[in-house]
Amino acid sequence: MTTQTPARPQLIDLHPPSADMHRLVRDGLQREPRQLPAWFLYDSEGSRLFDQICQQPEYSLTRTEIALLESSAEEMAQAMGSGVIVEFGAGSARKVGPLLEAMRPSAYVALDISADHLRQATAALQNQHPWLPMLGICCDHSQLDALPDHPLLRGKRRVGFFPGSSLGNFTRSEAIALLRRFRQLLDGGPLLLGLDQPKTSALMEAAYNDAAGISAAFAHNLLHRLNNDLNADFKPDAFGYEAVWQEPENRVRMALISKRDQTVSVGGEAWAFHEGQPLVTEYSVKYSPEMARDLADEAGWRWCRRWHDPADELSLHWLEAAN
Ligand code: AVI
Repeated sequence: MTTQTPARPQLIDLHPPSADMHRLVRDGLQREPRQLPAWFLYDSEGSRLFDQICQQPEYSLTRTEIALLESSAEEMAQAMGSGVIVEFGAGSARKVGPLLEAMRPSAYVALDISADHLRQATAALQNQHPWLPMLGICCDHSQLDALPDHPLLRGKRRVGFFPGSSLGNFTRSEAIALLRRFRQLLDGGPLLLGLDQPKTSALMEAAYNDAAGISAAFAHNLLHRLNNDLNADFKPDAFGYEAVWQEPENRVRMALISKRDQTVSVGGEAWAFHEGQPLVTEYSVKYSPEMARDLADEAGWRWCRRWHDPADELSLHWLEAAN
C-alpha cells in the first residue's frame, strides 16, 4: 500500500517591496518618539525568536490561549458554522488546529508577513490535517484591500481568526481601521478575536523582558534586519532594550534605547540618535472585556460573546458584522 504525501500548500507572495519599506522607515524615524511598524520585527529570524518568546515562562499569553482553544473548540466551531477559516498573522499556525478539527472548514487560508515562516507553518499544518486544502498569503494585512481571487475563497463564507492579541500591537485608531478592514476582507463573515487583558505592571514588564533575554534579542534583530534588508549600519550593541508598562494607556512600550550620541545611516541617509533616545519597536495594548466591546462597536462589529481562561486573563471574542 502506498501512503500519499499531502500536497504542499500554495503561497501567494504580496510582501511590500523594499521601496515601501524604505518609505515606512523614513516616516517612522521622523515620528516623536521614533517608531517603526511592528511587522518589521518579523523577518525569518524575528519569527523564529518570537516563537521562542512564546515558550518563555514569563510569557503566558500563547499557552493560555492554546489551552482555551483546546477546551472550547467545539463551542467555537458551532458559532463558526461552515466556510473557509482565514487566519490573520498566522505565524507558526500552532493555534488553529483544534478549530480545524472541530469545524472542518472547506479550506484554511493563512496570512502572514514572513514568507519563509508561512511556507514552513502551512507545510507542517498540512501534514497534520492532510484532508484540508490550504493557501498561504504573504502580505501586510493592514494594507490589503481584498483577498486574492482564488478558487479556495471564491463564493465561500469567510470566518476570520485573529488570535494572539496581535491587535494590541496597533494604536487605538489603527486597531479600529484594521478591524474595519477585516470586515471588508471577510466579506460580511464573522471574526474570532483573541485579546490579552491588563495585569499588574510587574507581570506585564516581565512578560516583555524575559530573564533569558529573548525579548531583547527579538527587538535587537530589528536593527540587524534594517542592516541586511535596507542597507543600514546600526550597531545593535550601541542600543539597550526596555519594556515599560504604561498604565494610563493600558500598554507595554518596548523600545531600543541609544546608549550614546551616534549617527546611523539608512539607505544613504544619516540619522542622529542622542544618548537615551528611544526607538519604539512596538506597543502591546491590553484590552479589558469592556474595552474590547467598545472597540468592536466603533469598528462596525457586533460583539456577541467571549470565551475566557479560568483566571480570566485573556479572551477570545466572537464578533459579527453589524448591519
Ligand atoms: C505578536 N504580539 C501579539 C506580541 C505581543 O504580545 O504583543 C509581540 C511580542 N513582542 C514581544 N513579545 C511579544
